[in-house]
Amino acid sequence: MEFVVKQTAQWSKIKTDCLIIPIADTKTLHPLIKDIDKSCNKLISTLIKSGDIKTSTAAISMITVSPLANAQRLLFVGLGKNSDIAGFRKAITAVASALQSSPCKNASLLFDVFTASSNTAQMIQQGCQLIEANGYHYDATLSKKATPAALKKVTLLASGDSKQLTQAAKTGQAMGYGANIARQLGNLPANFCTPSHLAEQAQLLANSETKLTTKILSEAQMQKLKMGSLLSVTEGTTEPAKFIIMEYKGGKANEKPTVLVGKGVTFDSGGISLKPGAKMDEMKYDMCGAASVFGTMNAVVKLGLKANIIGVVAAVENMPAGNATKPGDVVTSMSGQTIEVLNTDAEGRLVLCDALTYVERFKPKAVIDIATLTGACVVALGQHASGLYSNDEALSQQLVAGGNYMYDRAWPMPLWDEYNQQLSSNFADIGNIGGPEGGSVTAACFLSRFTKEYRWAHLDIAGSAWIGGAKKGATGRPVGLLTQYLIDNA
Ligand code: BES
Ligand code: MN
Ligand code: ZN
Repeated sequence: MEFVVKQTAQWSKIKTDCLIIPIADTKTLHPLIKDIDKSCNKLISTLIKSGDIKTSTAAISMITVSPLANAQRLLFVGLGKNSDIAGFRKAITAVASALQSSPCKNASLLFDVFTASSNTAQMIQQGCQLIEANGYHYDATLSKKATPAALKKVTLLASGDSKQLTQAAKTGQAMGYGANIARQLGNLPANFCTPSHLAEQAQLLANSETKLTTKILSEAQMQKLKMGSLLSVTEGTTEPAKFIIMEYKGGKANEKPTVLVGKGVTFDSGGISLKPGAKMDEMKYDMCGAASVFGTMNAVVKLGLKANIIGVVAAVENMPAGNATKPGDVVTSMSGQTIEVLNTDAEGRLVLCDALTYVERFKPKAVIDIATLTGACVVALGQHASGLYSNDEALSQQLVAGGNYMYDRAWPMPLWDEYNQQLSSNFADIGNIGGPEGGSVTAACFLSRFTKEYRWAHLDIAGSAWIGGAKKGATGRPVGLLTQYLIDNA
């Protein structure tokens, strides 16, 4: 998609296949719409009165024969009574879907009407992300491929600093592109999206960008590094594990890097602590943390961010087998701490702890790990927020702010001592589960034992990264949050 920002005043001069006019459910029309209404003989106000133009949130009404000289069609989108950011997002998504299924090759969108009470740059950024994301359709493993939409260009008509707004559009588009990459990897079945497939994606990205290099560690190399915890998870599978490092150098040579660490369990059967059969297919999504690292690295490359950023993905498959790790086995992590594997289904933390020890070598500015870590987080926060844990208050606040800016929200959770004590073991330094209570918290506490050397945050995205049910699919979260955080800190 091509996004162009033009000043609102030019609206009547720009030729378009479709002019998109947001309409709030208010007594008086927005001044801009009043002008347009005048230039088309009160058609708009007449059709609102007759109910042919609907004003409820995200309602779409299309007029395919337009009275305006330069617009072939008019598409109205309702904003409801008091439109907030959630209503705006619904409206934009409805517009994007309507355009996707229309023959329009281009469209112009009157942005000022949306942004009466908000930050225009922020809304343009969100709007472009949503429109870009709307162009994604999964068809990788379907015999019939989706037909590409006619829409190629969207002009955003807005008032303000053109340079700033153009940058916002570019940023939103890069985030949408990154989120689509994350969704695609999340949606790909586990027999396609293996650890080796993820390693290939890193190689492809490195081939396309000189500022990014990649290193893939084999199981033998992980053995040499004494990653006994990570390797205990891969025992039962024939898929080789891969430890993937993507190093992006957009900042000064001596500038400390921000490190993203993604859980890349390409399929989580639970191992010997086997999961129940129902919905087990959904455990192909257990690499969505890794997918968000790929999505964010792609967005960073697209934006040419002036910062040093390292993406690390610990990619393994968790399967039961005769030689798989058993409940009660004790393994030694790269940090030297021993772990009693009380439940082989609590494998994400076993994989991440060695990755978190490995990244100490980068002397990072901050480390953020992203993981579909616990079902308990889904119980606690549902799909609307990612669980956020941190050993650094400022870092936590910056991540919350990045998430709020992109409506990709995270909510802070505690790492108190009392929770940490739930992890004690009689046979090792630490157990890998903390009992049935506070499962998302104790999982984060487990990780916190391996992150003492740097500023660290953990995002539990088990609820936010994908949705179940009829619309089953990966959401591309939290690429928006992560990319915004990186931009704010570049
Ligand atoms: N990948 C799962 C967590 C998960 C569950 C993500 C449901 C998305 C939806 C993780 O590896 C896991 O199995 N966690 C266990 C931990 C338990 C054994 C302490 C869980 O949440 O049940
Ligand atoms: Mn598991
Ligand atoms: Zn898992």
